[in-house]
Amino acid sequence: MSWVISIETKPIIKPISISYSKLSYDDIDSIVFIEHQNSQNPWSKNQLVESILNPTNLCYSMSIDNQILGFLMAMPADDSADILNISISKEYQRKGYGKKLLNCLIEELKNRKIKVLILEVRESNQSAISFYLKYGFEKISLRKNYYMINSKHPNQKEDGIIMRLKF
Ligand SMILES: CC(C)(COP(=O)(O)OP(=O)(O)OC[C@H]1O[C@@H](n2cnc3c(N)ncnc32)[C@H](O)[C@@H]1OP(=O)(O)O)[C@@H](O)C(=O)NCCC(=O)NCCS
Repeated sequence: MSWVISIETKPIIKPISISYSKLSYDDIDSIVFIEHQNSQNPWSKNQLVESILNPTNLCYSMSIDNQILGFLMAMPADDSADILNISISKEYQRKGYGKKLLNCLIEELKNRKIKVLILEVRESNQSAISFYLKYGFEKISLRKNYYMINSKHPNQKEDGIIMRLKF
């Protein structure tokens, strides 16, 4: 006689642990990777380092299990702040992480009594524009022919769209 023993098991669902940190120079390789993965006109490593090391800037990373999946850089002034850069690693896009990162910045700005956030985005970056509109930003003005489309064709330019969020 043979016996078949069946044991019912429940799938183990590991909770996702997201953490936010102040960006430091040690994070630069991950940041450069995400920046180059996402942009046809990426910031150089030097530009990213300068922004991280600028003590005025607010620069955050977002990680899952200690792996950086996105970053945000902003420059606060007295009563408003500018988003300088925000980027989420391709495999994690469209999962709500960009929104979470922006929420994190806005909490800090509220602590500083700052109530306006401004940014500039290329007209061709429709996914980012959709993201900002969904978040509640409004288009407030246009910078005609502000961005070079491609460094190989320096005469071809595109508009920059300035957007603003009041909170
Ligand atoms: C823009 C960016 C930061 C958004 O981050 P994200 O984590 O993908 O965005 P979220 O998942 O939080 O999206 C929130 C909402 O924004 C909108 N949205 C985001 N990405 C979108 C896309 N590609 N197309 C249309 N709508 C989009 C949607 O309404 C989305 O909600 P839904 O998924 O429930 O429909 C990310 O796409 C990115 O890193 N892009 C490359 C770098 C870049 O262009 N940065 C901006 C420079 S100005």
